[in-house]
Amino acid sequence: MDEATDEQYTSPFSPGYGKQPLVFGGHEREIVELTDVFDSLDFGENHSVLLSGLRGAGKTSMLSLLQNAAADRGWLVISEDASRGLMKRVMNSTIPTLIGGLESSTKARLTGFNLWKFGANWEYEDRAREAVPQLRNDLVALSAARDGRGILITIDEVSSGKVRLRELSEFAVQVSHALNDGANIMIVFAGIKVDIDELIKQEHTTFLRRSRDLDFRRLSPSETRRVLAETSELGGRRIEPAALELLVSISQGYPYLVQLAGDYAWRNNQTARIITLPDAKVALDRAIRAVQSRVISKVYLDLSDQDREFLAAMAVDEGRTRTADIRDRMQVSDQYVQIYRRRLIDSGYVQPDGHGYVRFSLPYLDRYIRTVVGITPDPEDDVPDEWAHYPAPEL
Ligand SMILES: Nc1ncnc2c1ncn2[C@@H]1O[C@H](COP(=O)(O)OP(=O)(O)OP(=O)(O)O)[C@@H](O)[C@H]1O
Ligand SMILES: [Mg+2]
Repeated sequence: MDEATDEQYTSPFSPGYGKQPLVFGGHEREIVELTDVFDSLDFGENHSVLLSGLRGAGKTSMLSLLQNAAADRGWLVISEDASRGLMKRVMNSTIPTLIGGLESSTKARLTGFNLWKFGANWEYEDRAREAVPQLRNDLVALSAARDGRGILITIDEVSSGKVRLRELSEFAVQVSHALNDGANIMIVFAGIKVDIDELIKQEHTTFLRRSRDLDFRRLSPSETRRVLAETSELGGRRIEPAALELLVSISQGYPYLVQLAGDYAWRNNQTARIITLPDAKVALDRAIRAVQSRVISKVYLDLSDQDREFLAAMAVDEGRTRTADIRDRMQVSDQYVQIYRRRLIDSGYVQPDGHGYVRFSLPYLDRYIRTVVGITPDPEDDVPDEWAHYPAPEL
């Protein structure tokens, strides 16, 4: 009974930045550990957390997941970007709005802190005339007036811009004072790995260095398969096995691409109950092009000139590249090559592959670079890794 129906099944996939996936792949242990804190208030190492990783790997989605979980358990949630004016926004707008939504009994308790003025019907009026209003006092008062129920603060788009860094570090200092004063706060920062690595080298970033670091990269093949199959089932359709395997290979476990590939396959024949191999084949070309223009091109812009030269020297080969060849092609010293090798491995774009070799680990970055710099690769032997059974299909 699998022939077409009149029904148009709506796609349950969610391609797009910051769009929360219906099925969240990977990071199970961390999700349990972090969300347990919302119940137990037993923070352990989870007062300050840093999500860093690849573009499109799911950092913003993870922040949303945590925000929802915290709000469900009665926590207050402050979610911001690390853009200019962070402190002002939080003090003058976010916190007053949060307070406005609190119960009258809580507001009554807040009056004891002399930080805010309320009208006759407990509507928020203004700040009390404090000499210099400080975030730490606001946070301590909010935590205490709600019987120690917690506050989750998420700061997305943390990057290495100088102005932002000063503000961000002031913000973090205030939060850590509030923690020392006994407020129940979890603060979670998120940013792209290359940016965070640069940031951490600078002064005033102790708060980031001391945070628990969670790395966002690719999903494993089995997690990828689960996300595709379960998302599709939730949308009311099944993916036939051969189509599922092709979609796993196309997506290479890259979260944004998992959603794109699933979505294109879904839309190819939206009235059929089963997603078939021809549907997945249509997704192949379109999803890879879309990920290149929406994600990989941004990754390329994030890179320094030296990173780009290094990657262009790698893209000459198909598969893995000898570090010594990169050195020769770039005409630089061993030491120089080692510095960029390390940096690109840390960022998740490249991975070591046997002694003295590296390969691309970000799917389709090699092809993108070849089109940008116009190289045709030399065929090279491939060495297996976890994804070796799922080679990226040819276009
Ligand atoms: N764990 C996951 N499992 C499945 N799909 C996911 C997962 N996380 C994110 N996605 C999907 O990947 C895409 C990108 O997610 P998101 O915007 O959270 O990435 P990001 O890491 O914040 O990217 P950027 O670094 O550019 O801000 C979205 O389409 C989202 O639905
Ligand atoms: Mg994001």
